[in-house]
Amino acid sequence: MKFTVAIDGPAAAGKGTLSKRVAEEFGFAHLDTGLLYRATGARVLAGADSVEAATSLEPEDMERDDLRTTAVAQAASKVAAIPEVRAALVQFQRDFARREGGAVLDGRDIGTVICPDADVKLFVTASDAVRAERRYLELSANGHEVTREGVLRDLTERDARDRDRETAPMAAAEDAVVIDTSDMFIHDAVAAATRVVRARI
Ligand code: C5P
Repeated sequence: MKFTVAIDGPAAAGKGTLSKRVAEEFGFAHLDTGLLYRATGARVLAGADSVEAATSLEPEDMERDDLRTTAVAQAASKVAAIPEVRAALVQFQRDFARREGGAVLDGRDIGTVICPDADVKLFVTASDAVRAERRYLELSANGHEVTREGVLRDLTERDARDRDRETAPMAAAEDAVVIDTSDMFIHDAVAAATRVVRARI
């Protein structure tokens, strides 16, 4: 059986956790597409050419320890604005989406560009303040030295770059169900997402 769930939205809105839980609930595979851009950005920070880095990504590039840093996140959103970088990553994502057994992909352009025919499209969002606080707590808990102001600045800068770029800008697909998680506990957001998927399966 093939079934694609596309989950898009701004940084730290809760897409990652939501995607993992929805994938677990239905036994689908999950791809965090942000990792492709983060791994490309990390290689560029280490001196590689951006298009060459995106074209030659290896599975171990997605397992580097530094992928969650703010520096890599910023580099990721810069390389993500380059059309040739995005083009190099399209096929892998589309193949993943159509694999047997179902797939959940989360990112910025899954419902609009990568999988415009996805069976379910969700756009997950939350207020800037809530997203910054969640990401601050998450990064601090994992030993990163960050400040609330620094995290908020990173998120708003990346959102603006992701929203305003010409190629595959972050946007809710017209047929996406919008879930605002600002005032939700994660399990309520998971329940809402699960209901949408179940209704279409
Ligand atoms: O989701 P995450 O915050 O890990 O993504 C890092 C960056 O990668 C984003 O800020 C965005 O610029 C880029 N990205 C993208 N398209 C995707 C996923 C991520 O442009 N589908």
